[in-house]
Amino acid sequence: MSQAELSRQEDLRRQAEALGPWFHNIDLGEGGWTAPNHFLGDYPGFKFRRFAHDLPADLTGKSVLDIGCNAGFYSVEMKRRGAARVLGLDSDERYLAQGRFVAERLGHDIEFRNLSVYDVGRLGERFDVVIFMGVFYHLRHPLLALDLIHEHVADDLLVFQSMLRGTAQVEPVAQDYDFFDMDAFERPGYPRMHFVEHAYAHDCTNWWIPNRAGIEAMLRSSGFSIQSRPEAEVYLCRRVEAPYGAEAAYPARPDGQRET
Ligand SMILES: C[S@@+](CC[C@H](N)C(=O)[O-])C[C@H]1O[C@@H](n2cnc3c(N)ncnc32)[C@H](O)[C@@H]1O
Repeated sequence: MSQAELSRQEDLRRQAEALGPWFHNIDLGEGGWTAPNHFLGDYPGFKFRRFAHDLPADLTGKSVLDIGCNAGFYSVEMKRRGAARVLGLDSDERYLAQGRFVAERLGHDIEFRNLSVYDVGRLGERFDVVIFMGVFYHLRHPLLALDLIHEHVADDLLVFQSMLRGTAQVEPVAQDYDFFDMDAFERPGYPRMHFVEHAYAHDCTNWWIPNRAGIEAMLRSSGFSIQSRPEAEVYLCRRVEAPYGAEAAYPARPDGQRET
C-alpha cells in the first residue's frame, strides 16, 4: 500500500472514530469500517444477509422510509437496490451525523431527519417501503407507533423487526373469549408483551418485549398483513385496511395537511 493510500485510510479511520460509538459496522471502502472492533463483527451485515433475499431486488423509482435508521445501514442497502428516494429518521442526532457521513462517503443521496416515530404524521408523505427495524421494543408506546405508521406513512411494504422473548408458539386467536376463561392467559401461545420497568440487557431504553404470538397479533391489529417471516424476528408485511376498532389515535387530516 502506498504512503498516500495509508494516510487516506488513517484519515478515514479518524473521522469514523470521532463520530463513534457506532452500532452499525459499515464497510466504508478502502479497508475502512465504521466500527472495526464491533463485538458482533460484520453487524448488521450478517443479519441482513439472512433476509435480504426476501426484499424486492429492484426498487427503481420507489420511495423508502427508514424509521430509527441509526447510521443508515438499511438506508444504504435500499439505495443500492435503486430506490429513488430514501429518508432516514432517527431521534438521536449522533446517529444522524453518522448516517450523513456514511452516505456521503459511499456517494448515496439519502436524506436524514431528526424526527421521532411518534411524529411521522408531520411528513405528509407515504412511502412504498417502510423499514421499522429494532425500534419497537425501545418505545413506551409501541402499538401507537404501529398505528401511526399505518395511518400516515406506509403505502405498501413494511419491513419489521423486534426483539422477541418467551415461547415461539403461536396459538390461533379466537374472535372472543369468555369472561371466565382464565386458561387462555396461561397458555404460552397467547399474545403477550413483557414490560421492562428498569432495564433489560443493561439497557434502560428497552420497555416492551413481545412474544412471537404477541407481535404477530399486534401487526395484524394495526393493519399489516404478514407475508413472510424470513428470520425469527423479522417480518415482511403489506399494508392492508386496519381491522374494525383499530382507529388511529391521531388520524391523518382529511384535508391532507401536515401536522405542525
Ligand atoms: C437498536 S437501534 C436499531 C437501528 C436500525 N434500525 C437497525 O435495525 O439496525 C434503535 C434505533 O432507534 C432509534 N430510536 C429510538 N427511539 C426512537 C423514536 N422514538 N423515533 C425514532 N427513532 C428512535 C435509536 O436512536 C436507534 O438509532
